Amino acid sequence: MIRAVLRMGDPRLLQVARPVTDFASPALRELLGDMRETMEHLDGAGLAAPQIGVDLRVVIFGFESNPRYPEAAPVPLTVLINPVIAPLTAEEEEGWEGCLSVPGLRGVVPRLKRVRYAGYDERGQAFAREVEGFHSRVVQHECDHLDGILYPMRMRDFRRFGFTDALQLGAVAEE
Ligand code: NI
Repeated sequence: MIRAVLRMGDPRLLQVARPVTDFASPALRELLGDMRETMEHLDGAGLAAPQIGVDLRVVIFGFESNPRYPEAAPVPLTVLINPVIAPLTAEEEEGWEGCLSVPGLRGVVPRLKRVRYAGYDERGQAFAREVEGFHSRVVQHECDHLDGILYPMRMRDFRRFGFTDALQLGAVAEE
């Protein structure tokens, strides 16, 4: 079922979410189905459970190609439960981000260039990956939602924050 996505300002987006303890529950199965359907319906690159009002440490992300991020390399469709992220470098990279909870806006956010993440898949199997680039950015963005952090809270330069349509007009004007 396609679920409504909470928008910035809703206090539920600022909570620290609870870990999943029962990987076999039908409720988790249903949640993952709803998250995937909602993400695909909205062309999202990822979605975190708190964004649909569910207080659990569950994120999904991934796409072959994404109209919201036309330049981004494909990221495998991933279910990540109870994630832990560790830096593989202190080096940061700046990039434009949007968020389904912050509709219509884009901003430049610094993120760690390379990270290792670990967690559990939808069957409760542990897995880990070392990633970089947009994959690294997406997993950091989604996991931030589990700690009540939205991307504007990570921004340092608010001159590079604006409405997507105005930013596009600006880019055309600069050419
Ligand atoms: Ni988001």
